[in-house]
Amino acid sequence: MSSKKIAPSVMCAPLLEVERCLQELESCGSDLLHIDVMDGSFVSNYTLGTDFIRQLKERAKLPLDIHLMINDPERKMDWFVFGEGDYVSVHFEASAHLHRALTAIRARGAKALVAINPSTPISSLDSLLDDIDGVLIMTVNPGFAGQKLVESTIKKIQKLRTWLVAEGYGHLEIEVDGNVSFENAKRMSEAGADIFVAGSSSVFAKGATLAENTENLRKLIEL
Ligand code: DX5
Ligand code: ZN
Repeated sequence: MSSKKIAPSVMCAPLLEVERCLQELESCGSDLLHIDVMDGSFVSNYTLGTDFIRQLKERAKLPLDIHLMINDPERKMDWFVFGEGDYVSVHFEASAHLHRALTAIRARGAKALVAINPSTPISSLDSLLDDIDGVLIMTVNPGFAGQKLVESTIKKIQKLRTWLVAEGYGHLEIEVDGNVSFENAKRMSEAGADIFVAGSSSVFAKGATLAENTENLRKLIEL
């Protein structure tokens, strides 16, 4: 069985049809549900919030993959419902006390990931490797769906994978988020990515069902 994971981005679902989409995503082999939280400050947009996550957690059969695009996440960790087996990402650029946030995530049995923007260097992760379960590489600038890939991030994935292996941290997962289209996903997978956030450019692409798009994406990421 492949270790590659597909994480459909719930912000890209038609919001009045979330229930139907959940059923379809669960039955077609999605691995995680990616939930974007934006605070209008770290990124200019607003998206899904604490009440939505609470209700989703009660209903969802799949683990959550909560992407916190919020400033000072360590102050608000208790506002979010998550636990054993869920994934939670905090941004390197958004916190002066990252270890506090990462420790709080792991204390609840969830996997702690650090997210880095396209312009943030891999070297920023140097003092965090013992405290994380993975790295979320933003392949667009966070804030909006439907953006174009920042091309240099493909090389960055490869560089990160090579560096992690060399440092003895090859077990850490690499997640990619932003314009993970069918074509880009294949290149990201070859570069060493493990978790693929599937938004408007793949699973929610028009013209095919969620199940058809998921199957298509699965074929392209499995090497
Ligand atoms: C970007 C978001 C992503 C995004 C992915 O800030 O985190 O989840 O919606 O979807 P597309 O494929 O539209 O880039
Ligand atoms: Zn995201």
